[in-house]
Amino acid sequence: MTSSASTWSEITQTMAPDERATPRHDAVVVLDFGSQYSMLIARRIRECGVYCELLPWNAPRSAIERLQPRGYVLSGGPSSVYDDDAPAIPAFILESGRPILGICYGMQALAHQLGGEVAPGRAREYGSATIRRAAEDCALFAGLPAEMLVWMSHGDHVLRLPPGFRAIASSENSPIAAMEHPRGIVGLQFHPEVVHTPQGGEMLRNFLLRICGCRPTWNAGSFIAGAVEQVRAQVGNGRVVCALSGGVDSAVAAALIHRAIGDQLTCIFVDNGLLRAGEAQQVVRTFRTHLHIPLIHVEAQDRFLARLKGVTDPEEKRKIIGHEFIWLFEEEAAKLGEIDFIAQGTTYPDVVESAATGAGATAKIKSHHNVGGLPAEMRLELVEPLHFLFKDEVRRVGLELGLPEEMVFRHPFPGPGLAIRIIGEVTRPKLDLLRAADAIVLEEIRAAGLYRSLWQAFAVLTDTRSVGVQGDFRTYGYVVAIRAVTADDAMTADWARLPYDLLARIAARITNEVAGVNRVVYDITTKPPGTIEWE
Ligand code: XMP
Repeated sequence: MTSSASTWSEITQTMAPDERATPRHDAVVVLDFGSQYSMLIARRIRECGVYCELLPWNAPRSAIERLQPRGYVLSGGPSSVYDDDAPAIPAFILESGRPILGICYGMQALAHQLGGEVAPGRAREYGSATIRRAAEDCALFAGLPAEMLVWMSHGDHVLRLPPGFRAIASSENSPIAAMEHPRGIVGLQFHPEVVHTPQGGEMLRNFLLRICGCRPTWNAGSFIAGAVEQVRAQVGNGRVVCALSGGVDSAVAAALIHRAIGDQLTCIFVDNGLLRAGEAQQVVRTFRTHLHIPLIHVEAQDRFLARLKGVTDPEEKRKIIGHEFIWLFEEEAAKLGEIDFIAQGTTYPDVVESAATGAGATAKIKSHHNVGGLPAEMRLELVEPLHFLFKDEVRRVGLELGLPEEMVFRHPFPGPGLAIRIIGEVTRPKLDLLRAADAIVLEEIRAAGLYRSLWQAFAVLTDTRSVGVQGDFRTYGYVVAIRAVTADDAMTADWARLPYDLLARIAARITNEVAGVNRVVYDITTKPPGTIEWE
């Protein structure tokens, strides 16, 4: 989780999707049968300019039909159609007359439920394969070559087509690698959503535009216009408070809400003293000076440090920082008088994740503390204008709203900040040291033109000291670790193959410029088994 979400995750739950926006754009629904790629399918569809939502395969019919989908995509999944409790395609979808694209398990479920035959797989087919088109005239492959590389990952496969279907592609191991019904029902044994299927994006576009007839109207500008209207309708004359974390999600949410309701919004920025070099000043400057959004800047560095004194356990640090934040936020919010709403930069992955773990439909924020004069329970309704956006969409909206690129493209930063990048106790001198080292890492990576290609890059202050020699003196200084990773989301990550000369420059500068550090190491651990952060 990234900054804004985590701070609140302990105390809030997400509003159910069906309480949210009604569509203004042509939309499709992706039904999730449990594939690791389900979210990716949804992202790829939105990249085609078509709005879509990812819903569980057994979502209530009303939640699915609310979007008035022009078509359905059925994801892959780990099940076999022969499992006792195999998830099934709802009958109302099969009978809707609308186009359906079944991917992997989605294709097998189509075949199984529509009268074909699925062969239980003895071995999994996993990896790249070449498919050959078996038909010239199918809309899904319009404009695409006769042979294409695709990514297979399946156990079962379709052995016999259901009535009315024809095979439109085959591969060496799958005679029916793709199938089609003239009514716009298509099944793919492979995954068009992953990068290893180079023409997959084009196939999805063909399905959406040619087969479903969707108009590709979904973009940042049209999103903002709709979201502004919705925020106005939700908030009316009410007052909204928003906690800024310094991260992109809360900043974009605040800018968007401000465009909708102006000074009815007040932002609160709690400076916990655990931010990177220059970060607090940038938040204050951007909001007050650049965007003219009212901002309360709470300087609470000392309070956080005092609470963290002597604490070394990472989870304990997280808990203390989270609680202290809520406490301070409530204190400030109470000074504002009557407040009706609280804004959050919750994004779509947060929503889908919390739905998947069963978190439900409550929109009340509970106060855990009873602070001077504040009622025991703050009852605030959530405003979450980014609720349906992926990170890259949030960034596009941020730019469109005039936020500086530096803020919009900033790497994710954990809510507990540098406290979980200092192994062991957090002290002011260690914070100063880490900030200086971290600033060098970022400066050099930016200068090398690599910042945007990385998911995150930062310095970690380890608890280890080692012997070194500087000039004529023996030193005993801290070891700083550099972490730089690439990732599509934070679920998995790879260590970045930074050029050696860049690493050399970073190491030389840190050991020369940051007093107390005499050794720099580079972390070459992937996630899993490591995590991105060290704590
Ligand atoms: P890990 O270390 O679990 O991190 O691989 C995955 C992503 O989550 C961020 N992260 C956090 N974000 N509060 C946050 O707001 C936290 O306690 C926290 N821990 C990790 C991390 O920076 C990475 O982007």
